[in-house]
Amino acid sequence: MKIAFIGGYGHLGHGLYQLAKHNGHEAYKIGRSDSKSYLDVDLVVLTTPPSKTIFCLEEELDLKDDIPIISFVAGIPLETYTPHTVAGAVKAMTNIAACDGKGFTVWAKDRDMDPIPISRVYAFMDMLGKGSEVDDSNSTKSVDSYLDDATALIGSGTAYAVKLIENFVQYGVSENLDRSMAQKWVKESFLSALHLLEDDDAENIVNSIASPNGTTAEGLEWLSSDKVDLSIHNALAVTGDKCRELGENH
Ligand SMILES: NC(=O)c1ccc[n+]([C@@H]2O[C@H](COP(=O)([O-])OP(=O)(O)OC[C@H]3O[C@@H](n4cnc5c(N)ncnc54)[C@H](OP(=O)(O)O)[C@@H]3O)[C@@H](O)[C@H]2O)c1
Repeated sequence: MKIAFIGGYGHLGHGLYQLAKHNGHEAYKIGRSDSKSYLDVDLVVLTTPPSKTIFCLEEELDLKDDIPIISFVAGIPLETYTPHTVAGAVKAMTNIAACDGKGFTVWAKDRDMDPIPISRVYAFMDMLGKGSEVDDSNSTKSVDSYLDDATALIGSGTAYAVKLIENFVQYGVSENLDRSMAQKWVKESFLSALHLLEDDDAENIVNSIASPNGTTAEGLEWLSSDKVDLSIHNALAVTGDKCRELGENH
């Protein structure tokens, strides 16, 4: 498949471009000053900054009828893309691990697409790792609302998770553990936590670890008094708010 990555010199665009090449696709990076008219491709992928996306759509992009668009741009509503493609538009949110085929992607399409364009979309999504398509037919939430949540929990959330893990590592280093040893211990501990969550809920797991007056109970009390839960909630909430703001002010 021939794929154009508009914004392909940026972090996400470049990573996805490399992934596409690695998977045998013919990939092209389209930068700010490159032409975006009548691209000879099967699929267009947008990874432009939210603030530049409308200009790109309205002033630059001119697609042949059969080319679908997949946009990873945070905030901009799905319906914004609809007038710019006959084949159909997809709004998606992923995390940077998608560039290694290990991401998790949530996506929604703006209409029922014909077999050829939708098969291109599926082929692209399959490269990125795991994923989930959402629609709003049986939900009170709009697809844009799902995608805002995905931005908080998946796109940005991955950075927050990495930061949390790094805080654990820093503690180990502050106790004179070798950094690579601390990294290994923490990574394995987080993998164990994910394993436990496969079969049990969070409260049961925590209760099975925290015996009364024990070491874990002591630490949990600090987490609670420092309002760490609230801090994490607020970080995710401001991410979602920022998405909605980008959507309203595009
Ligand atoms: N990074 C992530 O983990 C991630 C995850 C999910 C979604 N996203 C979304 O992906 C998009 C890109 O994020 P990023 O982190 O990759 O940002 P980035 O590194 O800043 O990349 C954006 C790229 O788009 C280029 N660009 C700007 N205007 C353009 C135009 N009119 N035509 C073609 N290219 C243009 C920029 O070029 P100049 O530098 O020359 O301006 C830059 O190379 C954002 O909308 C973000 O919400 C990112």
